Amino acid sequence: MICITQNIAGSLQDFLIQTSPDKIFLLCDSDTSRFCIPLISNVTLDHIIEVPAGDSAKTLQVCDSIWNELAEQGATRQSLLICLGGGSITDLGGFIAATYQRGITACYVPTTLLCMVDAGIGGKNGINLGGLKNYIGTFRLPMAIIIDPNFLKTLPENEWLNGKAEIIKHSLLSGNGWSELSLLGFPENNDIQGWKKIIESNSSYKQEIITADFTENNIRARLNFGHTAAHALEYLYSKKGQILPHGKAVAAGMIVETMAAEAFQICKPELTNEIKTLIFTMFDHVVFNEDDIEILNIAASKDKKSHSRDIVCSFISAPGQPCNPTGISESDMTKAWMRYLHETV
Ligand SMILES: NC(=O)c1ccc[n+]([C@@H]2O[C@H](COP(=O)([O-])OP(=O)(O)OC[C@H]3O[C@@H](n4cnc5c(N)ncnc54)[C@H](O)[C@@H]3O)[C@@H](O)[C@H]2O)c1
Repeated sequence: MICITQNIAGSLQDFLIQTSPDKIFLLCDSDTSRFCIPLISNVTLDHIIEVPAGDSAKTLQVCDSIWNELAEQGATRQSLLICLGGGSITDLGGFIAATYQRGITACYVPTTLLCMVDAGIGGKNGINLGGLKNYIGTFRLPMAIIIDPNFLKTLPENEWLNGKAEIIKHSLLSGNGWSELSLLGFPENNDIQGWKKIIESNSSYKQEIITADFTENNIRARLNFGHTAAHALEYLYSKKGQILPHGKAVAAGMIVETMAAEAFQICKPELTNEIKTLIFTMFDHVVFNEDDIEILNIAASKDKKSHSRDIVCSFISAPGQPCNPTGISESDMTKAWMRYLHETV
């Protein structure tokens, strides 16, 4: 169940009355504890578990400490775990809820734009295995996802960009709102009503895809548009000891992959231009050089979605017309990286 509300405390309280768990636990991070708990301060909780903020909390060590804290505080199979945060908290908390005593009920309360439109929807949860992202986890849906766009009022600008990149991707895949988005761009960050509409259409699009293919055997893989190139760029940056924000990587990845699709006449040059124009109004060019392309290709072909030596990308032929994953050769991918490198808007 997805509920989009502008009264998070009331909606959460209603859900608690309906489900009547024996104990209510809340998982948050150091930032959502500070910025987001105040919006639900009148909801009665039995115990709050706080972990460090960000993706680095998605480890087995942090899981171990949460499982222990739940056990010490008397959590049973009738208890509820509310996950209050962005994708790091819903990934971690979803995994904890799936595994503690073989599974307890979870409720997600997403607080980042990315989590409201993407990470919190779809039932993928998990933790990292050393440097391997999201290698351990399960597919399991929370009982409820309660979204209140008012949480966005405290979200830092760089976190907005991560969500905006996925919304551009959804709009290109579904065709919904692409003409408006490519012409007018996004609403101002403080336009909560405008964002509520965007969250409604994006969460329902993702819901539609996962209902059709929950465990990613076919059409869910289309959601990887832009992500083969994005993961390669993130890998390159991490090798250099730098961090490339995921949204910036996805934005560049969509351009690179559309350039590759254009070379195969899968899409028209106008599409590449529209995507580039929109993306460069909000994202900087991702910096790399020609010598990096070999590493980028190795990283792209090692992407866990690839089944062969080819580089597998999920292209689109036009807004609303996604293609099934397609393998392309390293030399074709090299041409796309080179084009991105030398071409600006
Ligand atoms: N399961 C999936 O399908 C899926 C999809 C995409 C991404 N992910 C995962 O999601 C994670 C990234 O999630 P994210 O982008 O939501 O970031 P995040 O959860 O790491 O949060 C980023 C930062 O924003 C802070 N924050 C969250 N809400 C806030 C608010 N309302 N006000 C102020 N600060 C706030 C957090 O505390 C944190 O410091 C990654 O671990 C990624 O692997 C999962």
